[in-house]
Amino acid sequence: MGIPEPERARIVEHALPTLAAFNPSLPDEEFQRAEEAGSRLAAYFTGLLERRRGDGPPAETPPDLVTCLADSLAPRQAVGVLWAIWAAGYESTVGGIVTAVLAMLDHPDQAHFLDGTWEQADAFVTECLRYDAPVWGTGVSRAPREPVELGGVLVPPTADLRVLFGAANRDPAAFPDPDRFRPGRSPNQPPMVTFGQGPHYCLGASLARIEMITVLTRLRRHLPDLTLAAPPRRCGTGALRRFEELMVAV
Ligand code: HEM
Repeated sequence: MGIPEPERARIVEHALPTLAAFNPSLPDEEFQRAEEAGSRLAAYFTGLLERRRGDGPPAETPPDLVTCLADSLAPRQAVGVLWAIWAAGYESTVGGIVTAVLAMLDHPDQAHFLDGTWEQADAFVTECLRYDAPVWGTGVSRAPREPVELGGVLVPPTADLRVLFGAANRDPAAFPDPDRFRPGRSPNQPPMVTFGQGPHYCLGASLARIEMITVLTRLRRHLPDLTLAAPPRRCGTGALRRFEELMVAV
């Protein structure tokens, strides 16, 4: 994105509390705190865009995202794009990597998928994402354009709909034996929906896959004796499945 290295830790500090706002049942008080953290993050991005505006990148380096946005969008829009990419891309990928590490340790008989080709590693990661979706539901509500019947229930346009990707990924009509972790499932089955579907399909799906495959294959290669050292401790934050702690022994 082009965020200066020394400033990255500050963003995490400001931005993590904002993600709580994705929880539809968040108490008002915590929602207020998430909003305040969101304003601090927006102020940081506004300052960064101002510093970059008109600078243009040095000719020999490809332009980074912040510089491109600074020179092409109105400040408010540019802040919105930076905020969305950061909020949607950071914690979700952290969750994806940790759930995949856990799946690898819990299913050592399947971990050989990570020792072969890129496609085999991708099949492993796809099953990790289906089996334990790091973003299990939409944070932003949806509504049908017109009344629609879903599973015998009439849904009006005024509805506040949340799509539960995690549940869809375990639908036995779509994924036979859904509670079994089985990389390389039939190519004829429908794709898992961990990255959403339709016009709002995840912008960073390919990047997230690359990150997950890279971490898992390197862990396998460099730390082949990795095991769980204690039961993992999860912490729930609305639509994101996160871990408080995953202790491993090397
Ligand atoms: C394992 C990691 C990730 C998961 C599970 C994930 C999941 C999702 C899901 C489910 C949606 C659709 C939400 C909806 O329909 O309401 C989404 C949207 C989005 N994701 Fe990701 N994501 C991941 C990584 C990333 C990364 C790395 C980036 C950016 C670098 C990113 C950027 C976005 C953006 C910008 C959107 C909004 C797209 C739109 O509304 O048009 N995501 N993601």
